[in-house]
Amino acid sequence: MRIELDFSGRHVMVFGGTTGINLGIADCFAQRRGRVTVVSRKQDNVDAATAQLSKHGGEVLGVVADVRDPATVEAAVAASVARFGPIDVLVSGAAGNFLAEAKNLSPNGFGVVVDIDLKGTFHVMRLAYPHLARPGASVINITAPQGQKPARLQVHACAAKAGVDQVTRVLAQEWGPDGIRVNAISPGPIGDTEGVRRLVASTPDAKRRAEARIPLGRFGELDDIGNLAMFLASPYSGYISGAIIPCDGGGSMDVERYQPE
Ligand code: HXC
Ligand code: NAP
Repeated sequence: MRIELDFSGRHVMVFGGTTGINLGIADCFAQRRGRVTVVSRKQDNVDAATAQLSKHGGEVLGVVADVRDPATVEAAVAASVARFGPIDVLVSGAAGNFLAEAKNLSPNGFGVVVDIDLKGTFHVMRLAYPHLARPGASVINITAPQGQKPARLQVHACAAKAGVDQVTRVLAQEWGPDGIRVNAISPGPIGDTEGVRRLVASTPDAKRRAEARIPLGRFGELDDIGNLAMFLASPYSGYISGAIIPCDGGGSMDVERYQPE
């Protein structure tokens, strides 16, 4: 189910927007006439995502960039702004994660997730900042419940997402006077996504058990997150900034629900 909003002419830029949850967000905006740019590392993913989004008939741009490399982020922002003008909605959702015990995690294994999730989010926000529409831009970071609650085997992602949460809050403070709102969405397990495959439900049986532990009794759908993103991009959320908003069927109330078995 999708809520009805119209983003005609609005420039929406989604980092990590070529697969999974972030592509679901991009699709919601594209379906509602937004002018959407999606960015990620792999040309194949960029091509597939732009083909999907273009089916809605609006303007779509795909750019290859790595959020760990500020120069490529800056070039992606420049290309998107040259095409669509100031950025109305900025989504930072690129992430990496895997299960590993801390004692087996190499410095590079810890660092790669911090580099993508935390430092990448900072690079995206910092380099997009001069081009954000003001007043009125909405920045939406994609975090995870692990940012606020500990989860065994994910020390790297817990640390990185906790940092994303604080970057969200601090920049909401700094950019509020510009009329820019900054918030984060914290999804629970969502449908058939890479995050779910890697972390929560590697078999159908594990998936059923994980679903049963969520108060609403199901994993989320892509539209559950897309709907919240559209709300956060719309005037209906005009007085919401610096918020980390769970969208998880109530699951994050109990950290054990997120632990792998
Ligand atoms: C231990 C691992 C590992 C694993 C990689 N590494 N996988 N260590 N266990 N399973 C280590 C490597 O050994 C290496 O360290 C370092 O991490 C970098 O690995 P690379 O493969 O060279 O990195 P790279 O090619 O840049 O790929 C980044 C990646 C990869 C994060 C490792 O998995 C990726 O691209 N992921 C993107 C997609 C993704 O993860 N999506 C799910 C997001 S879910 P050494 O020391 O050997 O050099 C999410 C939260 C969901 O974010 C929450 C659900 C509730
Ligand atoms: P996903 O499909 O793997 O999405 C990650 C996206 O980021 C991909 O488009 C990937 O494309 C891109 N990406 C990865 N590394 C990048 C980099 N260095 N530079 C630029 N782009 C990069 O994962 P997902 O499960 O949908 O997760 C999406 C977001 O939701 C993440 O922030 C994740 O932490 C969060 N989340 C997910 C869940 C869940 O249930 N799935 C739950 C909580 C939070 P390329 O490979 O082409 O770069």
